[in-house]
Amino acid sequence: MKYLVANWKCNPESIAAAKKILSGYAKKIKKSKSTAMVVCPPFCYLQNAKEILKSRTAFGGQNCHWQSGAFTGEISTAQLKNVGCSYVIAGHSERRFNFGEADQIINKKIKTAIATGLTPILCVGETREQRIDGKITEIVEAQIKEGLKDVDVTTTPIIIAYEPVWAIGTGQACGVDEAKFVREFISNAISDKIAVLYGGSVNAQNAAAYVKDAGFDGLLVGTTSLDPEEFFEIISAVAAIKPKSKITGQ
Ligand code: PGA
Repeated sequence: MKYLVANWKCNPESIAAAKKILSGYAKKIKKSKSTAMVVCPPFCYLQNAKEILKSRTAFGGQNCHWQSGAFTGEISTAQLKNVGCSYVIAGHSERRFNFGEADQIINKKIKTAIATGLTPILCVGETREQRIDGKITEIVEAQIKEGLKDVDVTTTPIIIAYEPVWAIGTGQACGVDEAKFVREFISNAISDKIAVLYGGSVNAQNAAAYVKDAGFDGLLVGTTSLDPEEFFEIISAVAAIKPKSKITGQ
């Protein structure tokens, strides 16, 4: 199974614009057995996404809280599940750095998401400084080990997204060989049964190589996922790759 996760981040600003993107997706995207597409719009557009895309795609939250009740401004895993999500992104670098989310918090989110029946997509990746200091594997391994503490990765559906922080939203995607090295490191360090995605400035030109040449099980696409035409080019390019992965559908 290849995963294509569309992370809209905090975009777009109006319902009309969100519906336009969703209608653009709906025109092109068909339900597929070999490719799982997960649309993660802002929470306020999840209902629109469900109405427009129906069962063509799966849906995911961009974040969650591990409790419900007196937590102003948060969204619980049960709320996500009840609005039709089956995935949730946890530990995106924009949350780690802008909102101070530590690995321990991310671990709570992941465990609650699993208990609720959502598949967590754990984002990991090094900053430019950490890369220069030669700490890529150290950082990635620590983020995975802490984020997945007390989670049995052999029995629980989990997805990891390797997203080098310096590549996110910068137009400077990670080199395919460098990404491949980290992809293989994650399989060896954690499990080769776990799906690992690449994210960071993915576009229609570079998308296929991460899956075909670097062995990723799919992509987490931010900025480009707001453009239905280019996003569809990415989906088509990935769908055309013959399967090599041992990962089965979740
Ligand atoms: P980008 O974002 O594709 O705009 O770099 C990736 C992400 O959501 O992390």
